[in-house]
Amino acid sequence: MKVLVEKNYDEMSKKASEFIAKEVKNNPNTILGLATGSTPIGTYKELIRMHKEENLDFSNIKTFNLDEYVGLDGNHPNSYRYFMDEELFNHINIKKENTNVPDGKTEDLLGFCKDYDNRINEAGGVDLQILGIGSNGHIAFNEPAEELPSNTSIAKLTEETINANARFFDSIDEVPKVAISMGIGSILKAKKIILLANGKGKAEAIKKLLSSDKVSTRLPASFLHLHPDVTIIVDEDAYSLMK
Ligand code: GLP
Repeated sequence: MKVLVEKNYDEMSKKASEFIAKEVKNNPNTILGLATGSTPIGTYKELIRMHKEENLDFSNIKTFNLDEYVGLDGNHPNSYRYFMDEELFNHINIKKENTNVPDGKTEDLLGFCKDYDNRINEAGGVDLQILGIGSNGHIAFNEPAEELPSNTSIAKLTEETINANARFFDSIDEVPKVAISMGIGSILKAKKIILLANGKGKAEAIKKLLSSDKVSTRLPASFLHLHPDVTIIVDEDAYSLMK
């Protein structure tokens, strides 16, 4: 596991976007695994800038997002589909049909989950997965628990995550309690992974992740220790408890 410590959020975002841009330039058919949340917004902004100013080309790129709230359709401003359209897809030359976000309104949740992993595999697998991390160490919506799913499945959000994500909703009661989420195994199948974290709120999770190579379902991000090509990109605040 490689760790890059950047001065602040902007520098972290710049580093992450350079990483992604390099991949996209090397292979115009790259399959990207994408994350939502506030962490990657700066990275996406920088990719949009590179597209507009430096002609970074996304025309043959495919994307698969990690997760989506169950019950929200893509037009809901808090859905992850809406987030991705607003924060990235609408501003670059990606083909909408090449972008995949789990369908929070599917009538067949289990069938959808199974199919999502198949679709990723059939596309050739994710080349570069971008991850954020929850303050409790969750990745995608794989929350600390006794057991964790390998494959894409239905995830129950913990109280801590519901509270953390409530800032995006009008009231805490509106935060969905259930999501579709890629599983730990689905995530680990990516050829390369970068995990981004910024701010003091992530310092504890980053400390737990980096101070031991042990794997625990109580710290879902710790499974990244099993992967051969992971780069953690953090700002100094997220790294502050390591000093
Ligand atoms: C959500 C998402 C995760 C994300 C996490 C952290 O729970 N499902 O994929 O990493 O929030 O979000 P933020 O970047 O806003 O701190």
